[in-house]
Amino acid sequence: MIPLFIVFVLFMSTVSSAATLRPGFYKETCPDAESIVRNVMRKNMIKEPRSVSSVMRFQFHDCFVNGCDGSLLLDDTPTQKGEKQGLSNVNSLRSFEVVDEVKAELEKACPGIVSCADIIIMAARDAVALTGGPYWEVKLGRKDSLSASIEKADAIMPSPRANASFLIDLFAKFNLSVKDLVVLSGSHSIGQARCFSIVFRLYNQSGSGKPDPAMDPKFREKLNKLCPLGGDGNVTGDLDSTPTIFDNVYFKDLVARRGFLNSDQTLYTFPQTRGYVTLFSQDQDAFFKAFIESMIKLGDLQSDEPGEIRKNCRVVNSRPVNLRLEA
Ligand code: HEM
Ligand SMILES: *[C@@H]1O[C@H](CO)[C@@H](O)[C@H](O)[C@H]1NC(C)=O
Ligand SMILES: *[C@@H]1O[C@H](CO)[C@@H](O)[C@H](O)[C@H]1NC(C)=O
Ligand SMILES: *[C@@H]1O[C@H](CO)[C@@H](O)[C@H](O)[C@H]1NC(C)=O
Ligand SMILES: *[C@@H]1O[C@H](CO)[C@@H](O)[C@H](O)[C@H]1NC(C)=O
Repeated sequence: MIPLFIVFVLFMSTVSSAATLRPGFYKETCPDAESIVRNVMRKNMIKEPRSVSSVMRFQFHDCFVNGCDGSLLLDDTPTQKGEKQGLSNVNSLRSFEVVDEVKAELEKACPGIVSCADIIIMAARDAVALTGGPYWEVKLGRKDSLSASIEKADAIMPSPRANASFLIDLFAKFNLSVKDLVVLSGSHSIGQARCFSIVFRLYNQSGSGKPDPAMDPKFREKLNKLCPLGGDGNVTGDLDSTPTIFDNVYFKDLVARRGFLNSDQTLYTFPQTRGYVTLFSQDQDAFFKAFIESMIKLGDLQSDEPGEIRKNCRVVNSRPVNLRLEA
């Protein structure tokens, strides 16, 4: 039997449910936290410009699966598969080592204080600001999950083939509006995607044996060269025509029918989303302002399960007392 006081200690160290998030959460406990994250992001951007977009994407893939709880960052263990092998993640999510580097710096400065879930939120904000987008205050105070769910990741994360009406319904499940969907898709203003994600629309859209008719023919020719039928699915192309700058060119490209992913172009094809695409293509300030609001909403998705502050973002902290007792 486990003595009661140990049960209590374990409970105290893991309980977290729905913490109140707020700006400046680490002001007293780790005053340099935000500048540490920023500096590591800046260093990595210089080394490899795409890395900041790859890290920025983590906020979407973390927050949609059981809330923003760092579950995405867990590696597989013998008893639990992580989310990294999930359908939308495998051979696709990258730059986990940037988060490792941030975490290592933070553990040096203030051990055991800053959660991996919060690192993702800070780093995503920094990726946008460092590439020319807006800056905003992020709310912090998240805990890291004790588990991951590849099943949930597979059930939730959308395919690049998705159309706007499917995506509207998906985002609604997270209380995110049609506007949030269009705005957050504007994240594809930075970064790259694989041929694997677009070959169906180049050669066999919806099983038609034909390309997606919503694509500018000149653009299609270019993509056909980049991604020939039967070619290497891991070759990457730019998500918009200015892939290292966070701007509204993504929306201008959609209007010009030069969206990379089907899920992007469909936002212009479908009437429910088209108005927002047009608006943001003409008004970058409106896009930036809306982007801040939607990223905060995305970051507000919380886990209601117990959490902790991981020492290493890839593994749940070991619980020696617990293990000894159970052995
Ligand atoms: C609306 C539904 C979305 C779909 C269907 C979608 C799908 C995708 C796909 C298929 C890729 C490329 C994967 C590959 O080919 O390996 C990608 C890349 C990316 N996504 Fe999304 N995404 C969506 C929303 C978002 C959101 C909400 C964010 C951020 C808040 C985001 C941020 C990114 C970024 C930054 C990249 C580029 C990553 C890199 O260069 O490594 N996406 N997305
Ligand atoms: C959108 O995608 C969903 C799910 O794949 C499909 O059932 C639906 O028919 C599509 N809608 C349109 C209008 O193409
Ligand atoms: C969406 O909002 C409703 C009503 O406020 C709430 O009950 C529900 O938990 C929210 N869903 C998510 C995923 O946040
Ligand atoms: C296109 O997709 C359909 C349905 O998935 C499939 O039956 C067909 O064989 C594909 N055609 C080609 C040329 O790949
Ligand atoms: C991409 O590369 C990975 C790892 O080398 C490989 O396992 C995978 O099959 C490749 N994917 C595609 C679509 O070619």
